[in-house]
Amino acid sequence: MARKVTKAIFPVAGMGTRFLPATKSVPKEIMTLVDRPLVQYAIDEARAAGITEFIFVTSRGKSALEDYFDHNQILEQTLKDKGKDDLLATLEATNMESGAIAYIRQHKALGLGHAVWCARRLIGDEPFAVMLPDDVIAGQKPCLQQMIEAYEETGGNMVATMEVPSEKTSSYGVLDVGDNIGQVVRARGMVEKPKPDEAPSNLAVIGRYVLRPSVLYNLNQNKLGSGGEIQLTDAIAEDIRNGVPVFGYKFDGQRFDCGSKAGFLQATVAFALAREDLRDDLRQYLHDVVATGQAAQ
Ligand code: G1P
Repeated sequence: MARKVTKAIFPVAGMGTRFLPATKSVPKEIMTLVDRPLVQYAIDEARAAGITEFIFVTSRGKSALEDYFDHNQILEQTLKDKGKDDLLATLEATNMESGAIAYIRQHKALGLGHAVWCARRLIGDEPFAVMLPDDVIAGQKPCLQQMIEAYEETGGNMVATMEVPSEKTSSYGVLDVGDNIGQVVRARGMVEKPKPDEAPSNLAVIGRYVLRPSVLYNLNQNKLGSGGEIQLTDAIAEDIRNGVPVFGYKFDGQRFDCGSKAGFLQATVAFALAREDLRDDLRQYLHDVVATGQAAQ
């Protein structure tokens, strides 16, 4: 039986330039989706999947992210004194156990593979998850939990995957699959950001991975790939060449690309419409905007 996955790496070192000027002083991962920072969605998903150790690969300017995970005792006491039990419960649900979070600095922006490799000593010789908080996935069962359940049957490496329009392959890692049937597909290869006419399929890798430590050994070589960066995709592809199985998992759920403004806005609307306290007002507003075609002046 596959070994239990209890550690997850969250690469959060990116500068978030697509969200300037906000990201001048606010890390992108702290930006708010409805009323929770983006990173909270990834943490909740990881916890649901049984993750107990959370490893953040950070960079300069991310101290607000580290602060976010501190318990805020003054605020908790104030809410308690005022009898604001709902808010207190909301706040307490974000508290992390002492020692459950580790921060590692990526000293140079050398790519996603390098960021993951920076956490190698904290992973050791165990399978681990990687979660990219930019990819927010809404679903009945959280995506990572779906994957870990599938991985417990298959072993090997597993990456979340979904079909994307062919013209979009150059934004993703793309799987080369033999029989593209069923929810779990075995990959014959993987390519990072191929041009549409060179893409082996339109099955894109989405930011959830369950990986074996061999991927970290592959990253030891520090080979540069697409965009002159050290790519996680290349290190996983090397496992395929070494005979280690790699599976694509077609998750159930809706993925939002919160690394882009349009995706962030779509996620905001979708998550707000899922909330009872916001749904009616927002639906009415959206209806009016569409009916009148009137935007903010
Ligand atoms: C990263 C990965 C890519 C993957 C994507 C998913 O790319 O390198 O393989 O498909 O995340 O969001 P990025 O979006 O960081 O350029």
